[in-house]
Amino acid sequence: MDDFARLLKESWTLVEEHRERLSGHFYARLFLLDPELRKLFPVEMTGQGDRILEAIVTAAQTVGDPESFDEYLRSLGRDHRKYHVEATHYETMGVALLDALRSIAGDGWNLEYDQAWRDAYAAITEKMLAGAAADDNPPFWHAEVLTHERYGRDTAVLTCRALQHPLSWRAGQYVSLEVPRHLPRVWRTYSVANAPNGDNVLEFHVRTPAGAGWVSGALVRRVKPGDLLRVAAPMGSMTLDRASERDILCVAGGVGLAPIKALVEELASYNRTRWVHVFYGARAAADLYGLAGLQELVAAHPWLSVTPACSEDPDFDGERGDVSEVVSRYGPWTAHDCYVSGSARMVRATLRVLAGDGVPPENTRYDTFGNL
Ligand SMILES: Cc1cc2nc3c(=O)[nH]c(=O)nc-3n(C[C@H](O)[C@H](O)[C@H](O)COP(=O)(O)OP(=O)(O)OC[C@H]3O[C@@H](n4cnc5c(N)ncnc54)[C@H](O)[C@@H]3O)c2cc1C
Ligand code: HEM
Repeated sequence: MDDFARLLKESWTLVEEHRERLSGHFYARLFLLDPELRKLFPVEMTGQGDRILEAIVTAAQTVGDPESFDEYLRSLGRDHRKYHVEATHYETMGVALLDALRSIAGDGWNLEYDQAWRDAYAAITEKMLAGAAADDNPPFWHAEVLTHERYGRDTAVLTCRALQHPLSWRAGQYVSLEVPRHLPRVWRTYSVANAPNGDNVLEFHVRTPAGAGWVSGALVRRVKPGDLLRVAAPMGSMTLDRASERDILCVAGGVGLAPIKALVEELASYNRTRWVHVFYGARAAADLYGLAGLQELVAAHPWLSVTPACSEDPDFDGERGDVSEVVSRYGPWTAHDCYVSGSARMVRATLRVLAGDGVPPENTRYDTFGNL
């Protein structure tokens, strides 16, 4: 370990047991230095605050290994434009960070530690600002809700049109959404459920847990046609490999159907030669909100087939069991390109099946809607 990394690690041991105090001090100092900055953050800040501090600390400790963090910090900086963060804010945050570290570490802190953290923070800032400056797109798009359809209590399919500027995304990517009217400054990521089109229209499939879920709750229960959303830059690499000639397996759980539907729509624009098999799972038949749409695509494209599956519906007239189990019954999938999307539990189980079939990891792309 070089000297710089040693200093950062050593000094971090002085504060890591006191993260809650560190975080409290950091934000108190930040908002005292510049009270205007409080307006950038959500009204309710529990939990989120630590994510920023954790990210700074993790980034600081990998400054010595620029390869691994360069791209992450650049895209984080690009993405931070949606929070209205400006270059001078980084300086203020740096002061608050150093101040919090010094106060919480107490007597153990020294000048060498101080310099190491200042250098690390400056390196992070430089990368984030470079990422922000290199992006020609607006920080976010305003988008007007065009349609909103409810499926049961918890699910909605909505479309919106991005106004002002063209928004380009690739099938399989996701964007951040904000519902400014109901939840200003709170952003969450949602997969785009349609392939790119000339109309700037994006479709989303949203499910909210019963009685919970800030942004998903607003998107499912409160948003109406005519409302404005904000949409930030598309991200994610669950995209099609157009050069590949392998057949394709898609596995979707619940609203994990969104990016899979976008991929199938994009394939519909050029594919003639690759067989595409979609497995679509939910608890009960009534939750398979996207099945009719998929069946229309099947009727139009001979290379496409769809197998729905229900895990908790004894009356379902089709495959029963978790979608990962159903996928394993139809395998092996060794020679396929595989796309998996859904809850962490469903994705984990499906990846296990694919690993068991010997699918090379580079032929599998996935998105989880929670921590894997
Ligand atoms: C790459 C990616 C793509 C995604 N795509 C989609 C998509 O297409 N569609 C989609 O619907 N989601 C998608 N998600 C998930 C989405 O980003 C949000 O995480 C999800 O909507 C929950 O955010 P929220 O603000 O509604 O919930 P939050 O309020 O942030 O709550 C998060 C979770 O905490 C739990 N929780 C919160 N409050 C309570 C409470 N009072 N009681 C019990 N539990 C509680 C709930 O389980 C809830 O899901 C995606 C996530 C990722 C990472
Ligand atoms: C310098 C390094 C910084 C790092 C490593 C960093 C990291 C992060 C991370 C990881 C998140 C969570 C993003 C997500 O979940 O998608 C976040 C959110 C955020 N950051 Fe930063 N950030 C930095 C600087 C700043 C600065 C200077 C400001 C402005 C003062 C700022 C304001 C915000 C805001 C407002 C949020 C959203 C908070 C929320 O939703 O609760 N960040 N940051």
